[in-house]
Order: sequence, then C-alpha cells, then structure tokens
Amino acid sequence: MTLQIIAIVLSYLLGSVSFSVVLAKLLKGIDIRQHGSGNAGATNTLRILGKGPAIAVLLLDVLKGIAAVWLGRWIGGGNEWIPALCGLSAIVGHNWPVYFHFRGGKGIATTIGVMATLSFFPALCAGIIAILLIVVTRYVSLGSLVFVALTPISLLIFGFIYGFNWPIFWSSLVICLFAFWRHRSNIVKIAQGRENKIGSGGSKGG
Ligand code: G3P
Repeated sequence: MTLQIIAIVLSYLLGSVSFSVVLAKLLKGIDIRQHGSGNAGATNTLRILGKGPAIAVLLLDVLKGIAAVWLGRWIGGGNEWIPALCGLSAIVGHNWPVYFHFRGGKGIATTIGVMATLSFFPALCAGIIAILLIVVTRYVSLGSLVFVALTPISLLIFGFIYGFNWPIFWSSLVICLFAFWRHRSNIVKIAQGRENKIGSGGSKGG
C-alpha cells in the first residue's frame, strides 16, 4: 500500500515537469504562460516557439503519461486501480505543477499518453475522430475536448464487446471533467467564434 501511494505521488511529481515552460525558458528565456494563449502546452509552444519545440513538448508530455501508467503497472502488481490513478495523478501534475506555482497546461498530451497506455484501441478510436476534427476545423481545443469526451464512450463500447475495466473507465471520466474545466475559456471562445485556429497566432488569456 505504501509503495502504491509513493507511485501515485511520484506520478504527480513527474507530471509536474512542465516541458513547455522548461523549453521556452531554455530556448528564449521567456515564461510561455505570459505569451499566446497563456497555456503551458504543445499548442501554445507551436504558436510561440515553432514546430520543432512544439513536437518535442508534445512527445515529452505524452511520455510523462506513458511512464506514469507503467510505473503504476509495475508497482500495482495486477491492481488495475494503481496504473489508472498514477495516470490521473500525472495529468493533475501537468495541470497544476508543484514546481511552477501550480500553473500548468490543460493535460491533453499527457492524457493521450495515459489513455493510449491504459487502453490503446478505445483511445485510438477517439483520437482518430479528434484528429479529423482538428484537421477540418483547425481548433485544437475542440479536438482535445472531443477526444476526452469520446474516450469514456469508446471504453464503454469496447467494454460491451471485450469486458469492462472500471478503473480505466472511471479515471477516463475524471480526466474528461478535468479537461473540460481546464478548457473553459476555450469553450467560451469557440461559442463566440473567437477561438484561435492552429497556424494563425494567438492572444494571451486562453
Ligand atoms: O491541449 C491544449 C489545447 O487543447 C488548447 O491549447 O493554447 O489553444 O489554449 P490553447
């Protein structure tokens, strides 16, 4: 039990490593949270630092999620709740990082790593629809929200066919709630037609 709690805490600390903040500081000496949408994530890194750093941030943020779930599997010894909670904890760390005054990102890249590791095919199905939506609308935030909303639905559909995994399902629901909360300003902007489209710059406050 103690080891399992340590794994969950370590996952939070790992998730708290905000790669967009670190890279922006290293490459340009700026705080990415003061630029573009103000979000510490890959999309805003693309706006402010360009493609290379954005891809690096995306991959590293995804890797955090993968690593947290693997840590949970290793320590959990077959208890499915532990990898699910470790993944959730990494996302909480990404969104509210202890090293950066609890001002982090919106958790989508880390969620991709977490969900793809916890349950690959349901996450893939949700991911394909989300990517198509981003390509068509050029709203990354809309695609992100559709991804987190479709993942629990996709898990339920796969569950009816292959059997349910409730720890993964419940954690995906909590992840979805976190993502909607973190995207609330994006949701308002989408509704008002003011949301930034990918490839067209951005303004602070998103
Ligand atoms: O994952 C973050 C993305 O959905 C939105 O980012 O910077 O446009 O608010 P941003």
